[in-house]
Amino acid sequence: MRVVETIAELRPALRGRTVACVPTMGNLHAGHLALMQIARRQGDCTVATVFVNRLQFAPHEDFDKYPRTFADDCAKLEREGVDVVFAPDEREMYPVPQGFKVAPPPELGDILEGEFRRGFFLGVATVVLKLFNIVQPATAVFGKKDYQQLRVIQNMVAQLALPITIVPGETGRADDGLALSSRNNYLSAAERMEAPRLYRMLKKTARSIASGARDYARLEQEAMAELRHYKWAPDYVAVRRQADLQPPSPSDRDLVVLAAAKLGNTRLIDNIEVSA
Ligand code: PAJ
Repeated sequence: MRVVETIAELRPALRGRTVACVPTMGNLHAGHLALMQIARRQGDCTVATVFVNRLQFAPHEDFDKYPRTFADDCAKLEREGVDVVFAPDEREMYPVPQGFKVAPPPELGDILEGEFRRGFFLGVATVVLKLFNIVQPATAVFGKKDYQQLRVIQNMVAQLALPITIVPGETGRADDGLALSSRNNYLSAAERMEAPRLYRMLKKTARSIASGARDYARLEQEAMAELRHYKWAPDYVAVRRQADLQPPSPSDRDLVVLAAAKLGNTRLIDNIEVSA
């Protein structure tokens, strides 16, 4: 496995190869590693990128304390059979202030996560397009854990006619259902015990929908009330269409329930797909 820190070094290393790429911010867990295995089946060269992207963090967010575990990450990536790790520093990615940016359409980028994390998807789309231009992958793998991010990237690739196939990966979970996330590291022992409630609540909501409930606003309110009862501070619980994350009309069948909530100081997100 090669670890490459500059664009100049990466280009010749990848020339002539069919690249499958997995962009990450490091602090890798089994959810990320499953994406590496999907990527390995796609091309003849698997590239993981590791870069904590300042552009997608608001000033009050956790950019500085985001866990950075690069040596550990490399050991895991090597065991997964990744061929190249691209790990630029900030000067390599942003040698001058990034003035050109990729703005997702507001109806996709400013709802849900975008409403509570202003500018988040502007930062994500910008760094992902830049990483795509650097790595030039044929395929890129993104997790459904960040469902809206996956939709933003799929739309960006389609609307900008990028010659890249986006492959989604299922959400990796702990045995108790909690979606794996680097931010789970912030939870206290007591919070870690409580954290699986988010997924249990999503499953309960999905079961109601699967068995015929159609008053989505009421389901959302009930789920938020339950979280508040257990001392969570929910940002949203939302029943949406899978395709464009807009509120469903009665005839829509392919739905997703998305939630974001703070437990203590840690903000967790999760989602579950459901057929109405
Ligand atoms: P990061 O949070 O490190 O996630 C990297 C990739 O792993 C994303 O595609 C994310 O959806 C996926 N992922 C995270 N947790 C997962 C889980 N439990 N199961 C399956 N996949 C999971 O997402 C980002 O980084 C950044 O926004 C990035 C796309 C790298 C741009 O900076």
